[in-house]
Amino acid sequence: MNPVEKQILGKVFRSKQKTFTSALILAAGSSTRMGGSDSKQFLCVGGIPVLARTLLAYQRAECIDEIVVATRIEDIQRVEKLVADCNITKLTAIVAGGVDRVESAHLALDHISPKTRFVAVADGARCLIRPDEIDRVCRAAYQKNAAVAACPIVDTVKRVGALGNVRETLNRNELWAIQTPQVFQISLYAAAITRTEADEFPVTDDSSMLEHLGYGVYTVPCSRNNIKITTPEDLILAEAILAAEEKAE
Ligand code: C5P
Repeated sequence: MNPVEKQILGKVFRSKQKTFTSALILAAGSSTRMGGSDSKQFLCVGGIPVLARTLLAYQRAECIDEIVVATRIEDIQRVEKLVADCNITKLTAIVAGGVDRVESAHLALDHISPKTRFVAVADGARCLIRPDEIDRVCRAAYQKNAAVAACPIVDTVKRVGALGNVRETLNRNELWAIQTPQVFQISLYAAAITRTEADEFPVTDDSSMLEHLGYGVYTVPCSRNNIKITTPEDLILAEAILAAEEKAE
């Protein structure tokens, strides 16, 4: 850890109460695993586009004060329409995303309010998140500075070599699937992005950037239903989850 990073960690602000929190909704991916030319963010689940569902959840979460969306440059107008149709009043900016997830997050971060104390980073494609789950993760972060939605895994996970050969079986009791939102104290997150970019450290989730900085991250148990829409099978699963939730209400 360099002296500047040490200074940031030394001054980290903790809050026991709600404080100004900005959601960064990352929706600028290429949707390669979904197939087709359109972005998966505009595919419908239960008749409502994936990104609209995500935005509505963050709009309804009590802890979220503003929403910034990163999307593909060619999708900006569609996102504007979706925001207007769904009356997402917390939205403050729609920005063109970057070449990878970290760059999209960094570009979104450049547009948050000066009042922001915490950021809630979220996959646009994780559209079944519930507002109460978002609030739980935010409240944990206000206490701990860095908290992520997570769920214990049910499968056994093995490390497998290039030839399909099993190398190692991991202890399932210690394994959690990490979801979004991931909520961080703002100066920690900014420092983590700077270090990740400088080191060209590869990441698939934001909290690993804080781990790379040497900072502890806490998990908040959330539903297994908080899936990320990635492949066509996920759309079928999401429809089934919604139907079951509606039946249970
Ligand atoms: O690729 P992955 O599934 O990890 O993407 C997670 C989220 O990050 C998706 O919602 C995707 O739209 C977003 N993303 C982004 N900018 C990129 C790549 C991914 O906003 N360049």
